[in-house]
Amino acid sequence: MNEQVVLVTGGAGYIGSHACVELLQSGYRVIVVDNLSNSKIESLSRVKQITGKTLQFYQADIRDKKALAEIFAKEPIATVMHFAGLKAVGESCEQPLNYYHNNVYGTLVLTEVMAEANVKQLVFSSSATVYGEPSCVQYVEDFPLGAVNPYGRSKAMIEDILRDLSVADKHIQTKSPWKIALLRYFNPIGAHESGMIGEDPNGIPNNLMPYVSQVAIGKLEQLAVFGDDYPTRDGTGIRDYIHVVDLVKGHIKAIDALESEKFSLGGCKAYNLGAGRGCSVLEIISAFERVTGRKVNYRVAPRRAGDLAEFFANPELALKELNWKVEKNLDDMVADTWNWQSKNPQGYV
Ligand SMILES: NC(=O)c1ccc[n+]([C@@H]2O[C@H](COP(=O)([O-])OP(=O)(O)OC[C@H]3O[C@@H](n4cnc5c(N)ncnc54)[C@H](O)[C@@H]3O)[C@@H](O)[C@H]2O)c1
Repeated sequence: MNEQVVLVTGGAGYIGSHACVELLQSGYRVIVVDNLSNSKIESLSRVKQITGKTLQFYQADIRDKKALAEIFAKEPIATVMHFAGLKAVGESCEQPLNYYHNNVYGTLVLTEVMAEANVKQLVFSSSATVYGEPSCVQYVEDFPLGAVNPYGRSKAMIEDILRDLSVADKHIQTKSPWKIALLRYFNPIGAHESGMIGEDPNGIPNNLMPYVSQVAIGKLEQLAVFGDDYPTRDGTGIRDYIHVVDLVKGHIKAIDALESEKFSLGGCKAYNLGAGRGCSVLEIISAFERVTGRKVNYRVAPRRAGDLAEFFANPELALKELNWKVEKNLDDMVADTWNWQSKNPQGYV
């Protein structure tokens, strides 16, 4: 068993709570820091119920340097998984300062405290939004970056900051260099198979899958499918969906890689975490109806400005260097989403 202590920022959130389960089940000790701005503490009670294990929770903002420094002074942290952040593209266009302050400044404070505590192993939640609009539909890590909204730019800025930290190490030839994995998620969906934790968006969901499941359960009336005239197999947009449990397993593999020979001299490297294949909006709807037996009421609406027809990950680097690939398929993602939604129609209450 691995007794290493992992600090999970944003651990009460959707992906963070699934990461806590996976870490605890892999034998790590877990400390969560979350300000609960977009989550509920109940998620962590459920994590404890699923795993039969305990974790340490600190309600704090990662921008609060004093609070963070106290946690690092108290706890023997070896690695940080950094999920804390704001994530809604539309909201980021309305509140860019809030997004840069929370995501970029928050990461600056976190890494300053880590450096002062000499904790230099970090797994960061990046996003496929850093790629912008490359002409090719299958994204490879060394494509030029070009985020097109404040959310994506906040992730790209953080990636740059973390790369700079790693390069600075080479200049000073430190004995304990930064070891950083930038994990670029495609579209995480699904939930833990127990149905006890899942995505619990505040208000109207921004993402397709929670929207579909809330229509199916009758919480929302109708899904709008934005555009059915794209040059794709059925005219609707194609994205790379990845089961959240597969995604968090990639984080554990990333820790393994950071501790391996490959990173012995330190470094900062980006990896795509995606399935490497895309599903269209209509394919998601029809899988949902088939797996759950529920009708999804939808209408076709005009395309949304800025939406691309199709993109998905090239996940070969993650397979080669992290020994990771997805194991679950679309039916698993749909069944687990529905299990969570039907057991928790109002989310965590
Ligand atoms: N869900 C996705 O589709 C997706 C895709 C790509 C990348 N990501 C990234 O993955 C990470 C986790 O996403 P998620 O879907 O679990 O989101 P989430 O909102 O469910 O979780 C984020 C958590 O961070 C906390 N948080 C936010 N700002 C904080 C701060 N300043 N201090 C302390 N805690 C703070 C929130 O309360 C929440 O619990 C985010 O960084 C997000 O940008 C998510």
